Amino acid sequence: MDHFHYKKNELYAEEVALKDIADVYGTPTFVYSKATLKRHAKAYINSFKKMNGLVCFSVKALSNISILKILENSGCGFDIVSGGELHRALLAGANPKKIIFSGVGKSKAEMASGIENNILSFNVESEQELKRLGEVAKEMKKTAPVAIRFNPNVDAGVHEFTKTGRKSDKFGVSIESTKDLVKRCLKNDSIKLVGLTCHIGSQIMELKGFEDAAKQALELLIELDKLNISLDFVDMGGGLGVNYVGEETVQPFELIQIYEEIFSDRNERLILEPGRSISANAGIMLTRVEYKKNNFLIADAAMNDLLRPALYQAHHDVWPIIKNEQISNVNLVGPICETGDFLAKNLDIGACEGDLLAVKTVGAYGFVMSSNYNSRPRAAEVIVDKDNFYLIRKREDYADLTFLEEGLDDQV
Ligand code: LLP
Repeated sequence: MDHFHYKKNELYAEEVALKDIADVYGTPTFVYSKATLKRHAKAYINSFKKMNGLVCFSVKALSNISILKILENSGCGFDIVSGGELHRALLAGANPKKIIFSGVGKSKAEMASGIENNILSFNVESEQELKRLGEVAKEMKKTAPVAIRFNPNVDAGVHEFTKTGRKSDKFGVSIESTKDLVKRCLKNDSIKLVGLTCHIGSQIMELKGFEDAAKQALELLIELDKLNISLDFVDMGGGLGVNYVGEETVQPFELIQIYEEIFSDRNERLILEPGRSISANAGIMLTRVEYKKNNFLIADAAMNDLLRPALYQAHHDVWPIIKNEQISNVNLVGPICETGDFLAKNLDIGACEGDLLAVKTVGAYGFVMSSNYNSRPRAAEVIVDKDNFYLIRKREDYADLTFLEEGLDDQV
């Protein structure tokens, strides 16, 4: 459930009229509801009955420092995939002992920075990575905490680009290789084996894939028992789907219940890495219609602001800020010079030139995937907290577009 609702035909975020935000900060602007973020984080945190659960919000979904602070205060740790995300999480005041570092391509510098900051775990995805991590830790005269990411060969049934748990995907290692890597960890004085992890994909609408992966994790844990190897945690990743245009979704408590049942005889801690299911429905993108041309509404937001429709043919609902009776079938597109630049197709919506619209469910993989394509400054980000709203990222200006470029004074 989110906190975007109509009051007398006018769309509000919590107690703030979205029109007021557009008046102050312009468009396009990403607007996040603090109450929704907290509610979704708590939907996970309060669902753990046992297993000393830890929710590590996946920073890649929404990485603004103010958002991370809110989630930190709600009790979340963080799942990161780069040195940049570590930097952000630490700036937000995260406890390093609640940070896990995922990803297939960690550089030496990223490893060193994670070790230096005493993070909870490196989720290791290959023999090569384990070897490198051991070398970096040894050089620093430290020990690196490691969880092995196994690949359960599960097809999560989602968009081709966001499946991560099949044998053919680049992520994790096979069950056999997991056992081999576990043994390598035990032989390496610079590595401390702390966990087992996996992540099968994103926007998953059924429990079956999660269940299959968890059963395989359990089997692995039982095999490790036989070798007298004990772990601190089992990390089942993220992936729970959300409602974009009226889909049925699985609730966090249902997912956690399944895990707690499967792992009921275990002592390991349960870690989850949700991103989308915490932040997606906490954000909308405010955009203004520049022109109406035939059945196109040409907005001031484009694929550089919200890439998901162009990249994955993803559907986002669009709501008018002021409801209008003149409903017609339209495509919402942006000003970018590509036919693939659309935000939503076949909308039944009443809107004309100058009207404000809210593109919904953009709090995950929205702003974070935006770019400066067509030399468009990136949008502003705003948080709503009850009847207040404040800026958490300024709109970029033209100077921001060019300030890293060199050679303006040279005689090229
Ligand atoms: N953990 C790992 C290791 C991941 O790779 C991901 C997402 C997550 C957790 C969080 O998954 P979530 O709970 O958000 O589904 N840009 C795509 C989604 C890419 C997901 C990448 N990995 C989209 O817009 O649909």
